Amino acid sequence: MNIVVLGAQFGDEGKGKIVDLMTPNFSLVARYQGGHNAGHTVYVNGKKFVLHLIPSGILHEGVKCVIGNGVVVDPQALFKEIEELAQLGIEVGDRLLISDKAHLILPYHRELDVLSEARRGERKIGTTSRGIGPAYEDKIGRRGIRVCDLVDTQALADEVRENVSARNRIIKDSTLDWQPVYDQLLAFGVRMRRWTGDVSLVLDQARQAGQRILIEGAQGAMLDIDHGTYPYVTSSNATIGGACTGLGIPPKAIHGVLGVAKAYLTRVGEGPFPTELDGEMGNRLRETGMEYGASTGRPRRCGWYDAVAVRYAVRVNGIDSIALTKLDVLDGIETIEICTGYKIGDRTVTEFPSDLNTAGTLTPIYESWPGWTTPTKGARDYAQLPAEAQRYIRRLEEVSGVPVGLISTGSDRLETIIRSGSVVADWLPRKN
Ligand code: GDP
Ligand code: IMO
Ligand code: MG
Repeated sequence: MNIVVLGAQFGDEGKGKIVDLMTPNFSLVARYQGGHNAGHTVYVNGKKFVLHLIPSGILHEGVKCVIGNGVVVDPQALFKEIEELAQLGIEVGDRLLISDKAHLILPYHRELDVLSEARRGERKIGTTSRGIGPAYEDKIGRRGIRVCDLVDTQALADEVRENVSARNRIIKDSTLDWQPVYDQLLAFGVRMRRWTGDVSLVLDQARQAGQRILIEGAQGAMLDIDHGTYPYVTSSNATIGGACTGLGIPPKAIHGVLGVAKAYLTRVGEGPFPTELDGEMGNRLRETGMEYGASTGRPRRCGWYDAVAVRYAVRVNGIDSIALTKLDVLDGIETIEICTGYKIGDRTVTEFPSDLNTAGTLTPIYESWPGWTTPTKGARDYAQLPAEAQRYIRRLEEVSGVPVGLISTGSDRLETIIRSGSVVADWLPRKN
């Protein structure tokens, strides 16, 4: 059985922790989109690992980690991550496989990202400045450079020369020489070769051999290029379709979808956030939840759980079950709000609007639920949760239209509840 783990909110839901803890039940872990804009945090015995490009299964010996064609790869970021993992005692060795069809983030894509943000001024997206958008632009514009293109040919030289001169036309008074870019790319190609191959074929062979694949999304549904709060989104399909196109696997190869959602909501970068809390409660969530970007260190905007958004993510992705994370962050809060709809003028909206940016002033409709005084932090058993926390979870299930099969009560692997009788328990026959 192959399972997709993806973000059901605005990213940073805790996907890294969930993927890591599920990995012992799988032979391969595969990323299908995004790039090193992602920051997936895993804590093991107090030791912190942040994965950006490499799938979050890498901490488990013998597991193969796969980067699909839908991912944009910055070779320098990749080498840096491999070295950092080695320093932490994790050898990537031959466990990594990168699709030869994956597109590259070139050094000047970062500059173009920053420049594009500066040009948007007040309307900036708040990107991670990793060059993600410009790399995907080149891909869709059919001028991108793929991993398999990194061989010394006239075709590559022509492509690089043309791309660099296009860049020079965009960046005023710039005269970047294409030759050093070309030489550097060839060197990257040589260094990456040991890890590159045909991901679609390898995944097919793994399936034929009865091996299980865990598929790891980056970002989240509301940051999806098609289904998110456009234009305040990332440039890839973080939703379920991206798993097929980004790995070269058929829909039938996917047997379950686990959506990861925080027990509240955060967003980093610009864009609409109806349940955002500006005052004291927002700060409390940020500080208790340590809500600072895993990639950029930026403070995350915090707010209440938005069931309209999660319901939408459930519909778009066919989410079978939710992994509800960071329940412990709500410990000690007297009253917890759940957003079940919005008011736009005198209209009530219960479906996620396509035009969230232009819909006008949107006021969340809240339900208030009593909080709990007994901490949930570190709980590993559902029965251990205070009655009010159980009631909150039950209400989230009702208003989000999906069962909660896994509950996370801390950043460590072990601070997890897998609910017996849930599909998640069926997916994870091996106790972790
Ligand atoms: P990802 O991008 O979805 O993998 O999430 P991030 O790693 O960017 O952000 C999630 C943060 O929350 C990380 O610092 C995790 O260590 C932390 N985290 C995950 N689950 C829990 C939880 O249940 N409780 C608490 N307190 N922290 C958690
Ligand atoms: P993980 O995988 C949260 C946000 C950026 C910005 C928008 C576009 O850790 O959940 P980009 O650099 O992708 O062009 O930025 O998307 N963003 C994320 N927010 N988690 C992420 O990844 C994100 N990756 C990008 O903040 O608003
Ligand atoms: Mg993150």
